[in-house]
Amino acid sequence: MRSKLTIPLCAALLLSACAVFIPRRVGPPSEVSVEITPERVALGMKLAEGIMACGACHTTGAFEGDPRSDMYLAGDVVFSKMEGKIAVPNITPDKETGIGDWTDGELIRAITKGVNRDNRLLVPLMPWADFGAALTREEVEALVAYLRTGPAPVRHMPEETDLTTFASLIMSTGMVYNMFAKEPFFSDYEPRLGTPVERGERLAYLGMCVDCHAYFPKFPGAPKFGAPLAGGSVIAVPGRPDVICSNLTPDMETGIGGFSDEELYDAIKYGKRLRPLPETDMVRWPMMARITHHTTLTDEEIADLIAYFRAQPAVEHDIVQKERERAEKK
Ligand code: HEC
Ligand code: HEC
Repeated sequence: MRSKLTIPLCAALLLSACAVFIPRRVGPPSEVSVEITPERVALGMKLAEGIMACGACHTTGAFEGDPRSDMYLAGDVVFSKMEGKIAVPNITPDKETGIGDWTDGELIRAITKGVNRDNRLLVPLMPWADFGAALTREEVEALVAYLRTGPAPVRHMPEETDLTTFASLIMSTGMVYNMFAKEPFFSDYEPRLGTPVERGERLAYLGMCVDCHAYFPKFPGAPKFGAPLAGGSVIAVPGRPDVICSNLTPDMETGIGGFSDEELYDAIKYGKRLRPLPETDMVRWPMMARITHHTTLTDEEIADLIAYFRAQPAVEHDIVQKERERAEKK
């Protein structure tokens, strides 16, 4: 007779095999050595402090909406019902608690392929799949040059990650890889940058617009690549009012279709709402936290983002109504 333990045991063996397998598939860090030049540092700074907003997660206090300027990129901890406790690491050049001791290849592998120095797969809250798909080689190296020289080293060790059983299971089975890391992710991909729509799409990955604003009709966390940008994800953080991500598809009634380029410019650059609420005409947290990083976007980049959103399939999805219904139910 088969023991009741067989199935869990097989599952456990399979899981641990996968957990080893994924970093293998990604391969060892490269031996590259990034030369630090003023041009590289400037480009890295524009990306990291701008559209990619590393500090929106890695700065202590960022998730409470109160980033500490003396703890820039020094790490934090964030709680979520589904995933549990997630430590956001210190990525300042401090040698003991930050990335000061990492090689350039290790940094590049973590940022673009989601495997850290201990060969562990990083949870996808760290948007490595977006970064890996959307960054050029030169930009990755610029980020490394910036991380080495820009931020002040800060000695700070955030609390340790403690994932829920559900989240650990998803992580260890490699499902995360299959969901997020699509080809041509594993090849040395250079993003297409020929047309405004292509350039805008690439910025929408670097800025994670595609993560928050994606519409998951059935199952949150379902494959997001290619999901329409029709919004609807609820951002619920203890101590803050729930907000729902807006519909950015060109639907005339419920999306961005009825608004001019000027109105969209003011929304993306300054956070001015397309549909003012009785209490405010500005977007709320966490969109506002992203907007503070949009000041480094050029007018052309904003025009590219608008072109990309306008080129998406229109989906009717009334977020304002949805939020009202939610508030009434509470
Ligand atoms: C949306 C939040 C978010 C953003 C934006 C973000 N990160 Fe992360 N990052 C994380 C989280 C969370 C982890 C830890 C994941 C884990 O431990 O599984 C992480 C891990 C890392 C690591 C691995 C460090 C270690 O000690 O294991 C590096 C390197 C890193 N991030 C660099 C960056 C850089 C550079 C940027 C900006 C270009 C950036 N991150 C933007 C959330 C973010
Ligand atoms: C961390 C999640 C998150 C990310 C990343 C994000 N957004 Fe948002 N966005 C939101 C939320 C939530 C709202 C709704 C805010 C509100 O209702 O106050 C919003 C609102 C907006 C609005 C206003 C829509 C309206 O109807 O007024 C625009 C425009 C927008 N986002 C564009 C972008 C762009 C462009 C990017 C990428 C460069 C981006 N967002 C990245 C969460 C996000």
